[in-house]
Amino acid sequence: MSDQRRGAVITGAAGDLGRDLAESFLRDGYVVFGADVMPQPPIEGLVAVTLDVTDRAAVFALAARAAAETRLECWINAAGIFLTVPVPAASEADWQRIIAVNLTGVFHGCAAALDVLSRAGGGRIVNIGSVSGQIGGVGVHPAYGASKAGVHSLTKTYALEGARHGVLCNAVAPSLLDGSMSRIFSVAQRERLARTNPLGRMGRVGEVTRVVRFLADLGQTFVNGAVVPVNGGSYMPS
Ligand SMILES: NC(=O)c1ccc[n+]([C@@H]2O[C@H](COP(=O)([O-])OP(=O)(O)OC[C@H]3O[C@@H](n4cnc5c(N)ncnc54)[C@H](O)[C@@H]3O)[C@@H](O)[C@H]2O)c1
Repeated sequence: MSDQRRGAVITGAAGDLGRDLAESFLRDGYVVFGADVMPQPPIEGLVAVTLDVTDRAAVFALAARAAAETRLECWINAAGIFLTVPVPAASEADWQRIIAVNLTGVFHGCAAALDVLSRAGGGRIVNIGSVSGQIGGVGVHPAYGASKAGVHSLTKTYALEGARHGVLCNAVAPSLLDGSMSRIFSVAQRERLARTNPLGRMGRVGEVTRVVRFLADLGQTFVNGAVVPVNGGSYMPS
């Protein structure tokens, strides 16, 4: 039976950003479908769904369920993987894995979200890109930046297509965040990365959540196809 409560889908919900997003939407009374390949720590009210975002059928089944059980407003593609490796040593197997999760997974998410949201008369898609998709990166598998550049491009395509159906699609492009994926770097590396940011620190997950919440809000209606930097001013595309 359809729940008249607003619904949100978040992939990567077991991760630092996904969990912060889920808690933010839950505080505002949304029914949150949190999807992740890993078990999710229990959060009151969260509908935890175990799935792999590379499994298109599972992603579409989640979309159908969320649309049937709630008044679905938004879909956030936050699942992702990151790998530090000297670029000359980057393997093809890791290339395939990173592209499958970070790019193909977002393709499935955008496609499933567009399908159900357009049939419901509109909604919002927000993709989590990265500054790596804009400037690349040293010591990181080249597939990471390539996948995120692809996410930025997918965002524009779904923004153009979605606009015809009331579905706006945007992305955020954070730089390295405190906690979460940055744990893969040593303390010395993290301190160096923080020092080189104009604000002298890494970003915080909550600072990304605030921007995502703005882009996911049905009240914002004229920002579409944007890749919003959340990077402390470390890269300022004109
Ligand atoms: N943390 C950063 O510094 C940073 C910077 C820029 C962009 N990002 C992006 O933000 C997003 C969230 O990252 P985070 O910082 O929360 O990292 P995280 O590692 O804490 O969370 C990522 C989540 O994605 C899940 N995941 C991985 N593969 C999956 C799959 N095949 N199917 C379903 N779920 C899968 C993981 O289990 C994990 O829970 C990612 O897309 C990441 O690339 C992070």
